[in-house]
Amino acid sequence: MQGTMQFDFERLSILLVLALTGYLSPSCASETNDHSGITISYLDPVTAGVRTNFTCSSTCIPQCTYVWVLKDRTVEGSMLFWIPDGLESSVDLQCTAVNTESGQSETSTVTVEVENPFSVQLGSGYFFPTVNQPFTLICGGANREHEVAWYKDGQALTPDSRTELLAGNATLRFSSLLPSDGGFYRCTASRLNENVAFSLGYLLNFEPWAVSISGPDTVQPDSQTTFICLVNCTIRVDCLISWQFKGGFPSGSLSIRGRIFKWTPFTPRMFQNLTCVVESVEENETAERSAEGFKTVEVLDMPVYPTAPVSGSDVVKLSTMLVMVCCLGLQFLFDS
Ligand SMILES: *[C@@H]1O[C@H](CO)[C@@H](O)[C@H](O)[C@H]1NC(C)=O
Ligand SMILES: *[C@@H]1O[C@H](CO)[C@@H](O)[C@H](O)[C@H]1NC(C)=O
Ligand SMILES: *[C@@H]1O[C@H](CO)[C@@H](O)[C@H](O)[C@H]1NC(C)=O
Ligand SMILES: *[C@@H]1O[C@H](CO)[C@@H](O)[C@H](O)[C@H]1NC(C)=O
Ligand SMILES: *[C@@H]1O[C@H](CO)[C@@H](O)[C@H](O)[C@H]1NC(C)=O
Repeated sequence: MQGTMQFDFERLSILLVLALTGYLSPSCASETNDHSGITISYLDPVTAGVRTNFTCSSTCIPQCTYVWVLKDRTVEGSMLFWIPDGLESSVDLQCTAVNTESGQSETSTVTVEVENPFSVQLGSGYFFPTVNQPFTLICGGANREHEVAWYKDGQALTPDSRTELLAGNATLRFSSLLPSDGGFYRCTASRLNENVAFSLGYLLNFEPWAVSISGPDTVQPDSQTTFICLVNCTIRVDCLISWQFKGGFPSGSLSIRGRIFKWTPFTPRMFQNLTCVVESVEENETAERSAEGFKTVEVLDMPVYPTAPVSGSDVVKLSTMLVMVCCLGLQFLFDS
């Protein structure tokens, strides 16, 4: 039941975010720094392996020259062409406009998010690596037209007697895993006349997962607290997260979105148990790997406000307010 709830909230919030940020269709992003009057514009989304044109503009009389700074490199001119290699999910891009006559300069910085269409995924039927067992990794997002190569810990991987490249190199198959196969795997994909992009990576590891829950041990009633499930497995590739509430479902309003649990308790002076359960992607009793993080949170007493005699009409107002608080509480389910 928890799983379904989590899925729905997540999907709703993702759709909401997509709709609000315009990610559903490509759009033109431009950001203006209010103080500098510099505008940096580019076509959104920026994608790994795909060239993006960035334009910097400002109003200088008679004219401006422009200097960009991207990853410690400096480029002159109002336009910057950049092909992200997929190794970063976001970068800071800085443009400085210099007035050619007065020499005055102004600088603006934007954070550019990079989408990566490629990721290392587990072959079907594989849930986690086991020593002496076969294992398969797939370069997800690559198709037959892509040229695929594999990297382990940043080094190009050369197949040996225990590894095999299949499906035009998009599949990396280990006949029998050894502890030395542990490491961080990425693939690269490129099409004819296209640029090489590194995929999102996968940590192949035989160690047990570690799970913990971040957040305070004591919380105030009627105020929102955020708890985060910290794990060292790759979510959605080799593990899934769910929250359990042993000994009772939390009172108040809550929102669960993957790793993040936001809670506004209503009932003071109580203890609430939080459990974050991490399991292998597929539900298969014979091939299950799981770990749990646990935390007990104490809800403190109501904060003391200056008291005043409560008249009959105030009591009515108070209960209306509580209803409103409840409605607001429900809304929290759908915010970020
Ligand atoms: C980027 O600029 C180059 C050179 O000005 C142009 O040929 C290309 O079509 C531009 N690309 C996009 C996506 O605007
Ligand atoms: C697969 O990778 C090998 C090197 O590991 C390379 O020689 C070969 O050309 C690649 N094949 C394809 C179809 O990309
Ligand atoms: C997770 O972290 C724990 C504790 O730091 C470590 O012992 C374990 O090897 C890690 N597991 C993975 C899969 O990285
Ligand atoms: C929370 O968990 C602890 C340890 O498992 C248990 O002793 C306690 O009764 C639980 N508290 C509640 C409120 O469920
Ligand atoms: C569960 O996993 C094991 C080992 O990977 C496999 O042999 C078995 O067929 C799987 N069972 C189901 C029901 O998927």
